[in-house]
Order: sequence, then structure tokens, then C-alpha cells
Amino acid sequence: MDKLLVHGGATLRGTINISGSKNASLPILAAAILTGEDCIIGRVPDVSDTNYMIQILSALGANVERSSGTVRISCTDISAEAPYELVRRMRASICVMGPLLARKGRAVVSLPGGCVIGDRPVDLHLRGLQALGAKVEFEGGNIILTAKDGLRGAEIDLRGTHGPTVLGTDNVMMAATLADGITVIESAAAEPEVLDLANFLNAMGAKIEGAGTSRIVIEGVKSLHAVQHTVIPDRIEAGTFMAAAALAGEGVTLRRVCREHLKAITTALVKAGHRVDFNEAGDTCTIFRGADPRGCDLVTAPYPGFPTDMQAQMTAVLATTPGTSVIKDTIFAQRFMHCAELKRMGADITVDNGTAVVRGVEQLSAAPVMASDLRASAALVLAALTAKGTTAINRLYHIDRGYEHIDEKLYMLGADLQRVRE
Ligand code: EPZ
Repeated sequence: MDKLLVHGGATLRGTINISGSKNASLPILAAAILTGEDCIIGRVPDVSDTNYMIQILSALGANVERSSGTVRISCTDISAEAPYELVRRMRASICVMGPLLARKGRAVVSLPGGCVIGDRPVDLHLRGLQALGAKVEFEGGNIILTAKDGLRGAEIDLRGTHGPTVLGTDNVMMAATLADGITVIESAAAEPEVLDLANFLNAMGAKIEGAGTSRIVIEGVKSLHAVQHTVIPDRIEAGTFMAAAALAGEGVTLRRVCREHLKAITTALVKAGHRVDFNEAGDTCTIFRGADPRGCDLVTAPYPGFPTDMQAQMTAVLATTPGTSVIKDTIFAQRFMHCAELKRMGADITVDNGTAVVRGVEQLSAAPVMASDLRASAALVLAALTAKGTTAINRLYHIDRGYEHIDEKLYMLGADLQRVRE
């Protein structure tokens, strides 16, 4: 297992390109199941999560070619049974469920395991697909969905106790594209990645309106056709580098971003005393560490609120920001694994009931730390950038799941680090 050695103290400056969005790519790759014709998808990041999804599609019988960031998929003949061992390894594989059900009238998909950020139920996904006419059964750790008479449109409210579900909205929206009649999804997730998926589906001939809001209307069609699409920039990768620049940067420029998607992250960094300048087009931003950073309170919320996927990274920034900060994660109340590791580096954090109280300290100190999940690992890399000494971050595979060459990009900005292959 690779590890990353980060020697703290380097100043970051310079320019990097942000990659295409992992969380837009995964459901869009799955949506290719809905047609037998060619789907060409650009700027798919080369990370292990997208590689898993490509393996799953290939195991289902799809013909998949990948050349640098472009993936060509043709699902001429496709099986309804997703490979148990592959699906088990990545929760997001659940988003093949809706497309398989719509294309084949049947879907067999492993129940996703839980993960360190919390129990990851799929009750809302199943509620939505049942409303479209699917029969739901469970056997041997698999979910078995059948709709032998096809799917028919329905009015569905997808609100859960923790707000909307992103992949649940995706699954129902994809299934509804081939249902008979009109489907209305109330309390839909409004994340940019849901809108990107809807744009992809409409380019395939679907009839979807309202994506990007909490009410999506889908008029079912008989079939979908070939499509060419480029995924949106990865707003969480961009936010992660913005946080790195706020910690250790003297003018870090990120190209290929989308200002609209970064509003809540920008607001949080400015609240903490840093500066973020966008160009006129809003596709490039430069971040300057503030001269007088100050603690601030953050509450995660569904888009356009502050993203839960940036909570760990901002905790790392606030760990050495003067003052007290209170960070509440309303979406994943257990998503604080990074705090224990940050405390090993000298951070002053108390976590209780979905809230972390962070008292800024002068500087963290290097320690061997353990990555636990994708965003927690990113938080540890950020903390190591300004820590005293050399921090060893183990289990780097967590980071490689969702960040395309993060060590190379940080190195290009002047970070003093190296990946050690073990
Ligand atoms: C997506 O996961 C993202 N993953 C996650 O990013 C992100 O943290 C999450 O949305 C929230 O924004 C991808 O897009 C691949 P949810 P998803 O369904 O769709 C509860 C990362 O780091 N819920 O929106 O699986 C759930 O427990 C990953 O890139 C139910 O109760 O998350 C949570 O509390 C991590 N029942 C809340 O809803 C359900 O059926 C939001 O979950 C489904 C979800």
C-alpha cells in the first residue's frame, strides 16, 4: 500500500488544472446502460472509483474503451446482474440499479456495505423505484428488482431524515426516462452533478425538466440514443486545493473550475479571512492566504449549502486558524474520523453528536497518520502541508479513489512531498 511523505513548511504558488468531476462521472457512466448505442464521455477523471465503475460495466457486458480522459461505452447486450464482489467495494455502484431496471426490466445489485462516514442506507432509492412499479426482494446480500410489465410514471417524494439523496435522485431519474408516462420527483437533490446527469440524459433523447432544483419532471420516452458529453469540473477537488492554498499558499491559481458551484466554499474561506478572486468567465480562480485568518462556524447542507464533502478539509484549515470554530455535519453525523488523526498531530478538537469544536493552535506536528476515507485523507494531506516535520500518510488508496494525481498536482504547486510505493 502506497504512503505519502509530506515535509511541512513549503509555500504553494502556481497554477494547476482541476479534473472532471468524479461524482458526476459515476452516474453518467452508469447511464450509458440505458442505450445500446455509443456514449462518449469526456474528462472522466482517472481515479479508482471511475475505474471500478468501468469494470462493473464491462462485467455487465458493455464494450468500454478509455483513452486518457475520454471513455467510449456501448451497452449493446447487457446483463441485469451486477458483479457482487465489484459492487460491494464501491457504494456508488448502486447507481447502476435504476438504469438496469429501466433497460432490462430487472436488476440484481449487491446491498452496499456501510462505510466509515456512516451507515449508507438505500431505502429512498427503493422507495422511488417501487413507486415506478418495481418489485423489491432481497437475497444473498443482493437487492433484486423486477418490473416485468415495465415501469410507469409516478409522483414521488424522495425526502429522507437527512434531506435529499443525490444518488437516489439519480437512480429514480434514470429509471423514469424509459417509464411509461410522467414522473415527478419532489425533494430531489439539486447538486450540480444531478444537473450534469440530466443534461447527459437529455442529450440522449430523454425529456427531463427541473434538474438542479428540488422538483424534477421526467416524461418517459421509448428509447435513448448515442451521446457525446463532457463532465463538469470537480468542485470538491477544486475546494480541496482552495483549502490547501488558504493554508499554505501565496497565490495559487486553479483553472477549469466553475464559480457557480464553488459559492459556498468561497464564502467559507472568505469568512475565515482568506481571499478568492475569480476571472470574468468564472472558470479560473486565485486564492491568497489571508494575513489575519480567523475561526468561523460551518454547518454542512445539501447544495447550494456548504458541502459535507468539504467538511474534513475545512476542519484541517481551521485546526491552525486562531479562534474557535464549530463545525456541524447535518448529512453524515459520524464523518469525523479525520479529527482523531488531526489530534495526533496536535490539533485541539472535541467531537460530540455530529459537531466538532476546533480551537486553533499555532502549528501542528508531524505524526504517522492513517487515512480512513476519501475526504478525511485529503484533510490529513492539507494538515501535513504546514505541520512541523515530515508526516507519513498511510493507506493512500483512499485518496486515489477520488483525486486524480493529487500528489503530482501539489508537487507542481511547490509542496515538498513524495509518494512511497510499498
Ligand atoms: C453522494 O453520495 C456523494 N457520492 C457523496 O460524496 C456525498 O457525500 C453525498 O452525495 C452527499 O452530498 C457520489 O455522488 C458518488 P446521499 P450519496 O444519498 O448519494 C441518507 C465523496 O466523498 N440516505 O445524498 O450516496 C444518507 O445516509 C462522497 O465523494 C438515506 O437515508 O449520498 C445521508 O445521510 C462521499 N436513505 C443523506 O441521506 C437513502 O436511501 C445523503 O446521502 C439514501 C441516503
